[in-house]
Amino acid sequence: MKKISIGLLGLGTVGSGVVTILTNHQDKLMHQVGCPIELKKVVVQDLHKERSVEVDQSLLTKNVDEVINDPEIDVVIEVMGGVEETRKYILAALRNKKHVVTANKDLMALYGSELLLEASENGCDLFYEASVAGGIPILRSLVDGLASDRITKMMGIVNGTTNFILTKMSKDKRAYEDVLAEAQHLGYAESDPTADVEGLDAARKMTILATLGFSMNIDLQDVRTQGITTITEEDLDYSKRLGYTMKLIGIAHRDGEKVEVSVQPTLLSENHPLAAVNDEYNAVYVCGEAVGETMFYGPGAGGLPTATAVMSDLVGVMKNMRLGVNGLSAVSPQYEKKLKLDSERYSKYFLRIHVQDQVGAFAKITTIFSEHGVSFEKILQLPLNKSNVAEIVIVTHRASLKDYEEILGQLESLEVVKQVKSSYRVEGDEMQ
Ligand code: NAP
Ligand code: HSE
Repeated sequence: MKKISIGLLGLGTVGSGVVTILTNHQDKLMHQVGCPIELKKVVVQDLHKERSVEVDQSLLTKNVDEVINDPEIDVVIEVMGGVEETRKYILAALRNKKHVVTANKDLMALYGSELLLEASENGCDLFYEASVAGGIPILRSLVDGLASDRITKMMGIVNGTTNFILTKMSKDKRAYEDVLAEAQHLGYAESDPTADVEGLDAARKMTILATLGFSMNIDLQDVRTQGITTITEEDLDYSKRLGYTMKLIGIAHRDGEKVEVSVQPTLLSENHPLAAVNDEYNAVYVCGEAVGETMFYGPGAGGLPTATAVMSDLVGVMKNMRLGVNGLSAVSPQYEKKLKLDSERYSKYFLRIHVQDQVGAFAKITTIFSEHGVSFEKILQLPLNKSNVAEIVIVTHRASLKDYEEILGQLESLEVVKQVKSSYRVEGDEMQ
């Protein structure tokens, strides 16, 4: 190969990181792949925007066809985001026999299987390492490093923005809106941060992780998802007081043939390795039948870390080109999808309720729990300043989701219960 030509879709946070690495690490890249890499075209929305990296103005275009229909372009790097339009561009690029590298989890979580099939039918590679956990090579670790093992559990802090927000809120007592604005400024958040704070970005990443880890086609709608927008200062204080750290955790758990996947704010035992993952950092804790416990840690968002993952995929494509084996590495899922019922999903729970401070109120509450066979592990009762209202905080022993949701429904209908203030999953007291 004399050279490889790249078409870049997007020159924002990640695209600029790609250009920086292409420019600054050209010698290392040449050594890895044996030929120079030429950046041939860059697609943007605004041709006149000020850029954080130097790119020859003549390379910029608003016309995607100049990349996907250019016969000289070998690899398309998609870092512009979006779903429906982007899907069309990637399908067209693959049909034009171009290899594709993407950082787009929104797209891969929804259309991953369709795009991967199109890639292999066209003898092309479609790699997406940067779509989960930014700079951490987690997909390659699951697919290659743990190829022979059966994964039983994955727990991930896979959204940098929410981890940054929760860290700053609990450690520095900063306000939610203020920290979210900083995360946006630092380039961690999506252009519309709703997907970050509502847990959808993490759910997309867990869909990708669970599909690869369990070798099963998991769909985005299989992931029960809750974001961080309703977490209060009181929740963070109680969490600390009880020996936990509040994190947005994605959990993918397999019991025999059945799996569950979810994303929710979770009180994580301070002894769990994920509890020490702070700021925009991500980590994925993976348990396998043979390997036992492992944890992969690193920067989960930001231009250069994410671009490092993009570039590792590019090197992978180019090595395959040299060997003539493009389009052969994707392995289709081995197992039929089997999801656990709510009666089979077990966890401990934290519950904070306001109750009428009167004789017999507590007994009514405990009766509901005991009728469902759910016992308490920890309990606190504190009078509030408000007249006649007490706050009760409970951490349960393990309960099924079905039982727990029935308990919540019955508590809400009790006259002595003024309000169920908050409720979270509790994890990490026992490993695995
Ligand atoms: P970004 O900063 O908003 O950049 C998007 C780039 O794409 C911009 O250069 C924009 O052009 C261009 N663009 C957007 N829509 C376009 C369209 N319809 N036609 C032509 N150009 C278009 O986004 P980003 O943060 O780099 O993220 C890019 C992708 O990587 C997303 O899929 C994101 O989810 C994923 N990702 C991001 C991170 C991260 O830390 N930021 C980490 C992992 C994965 P202009 O510059 O002219 O506006
Ligand atoms: N908005 C994402 C995050 C970017 O905060 O994790 C990395 O995918």
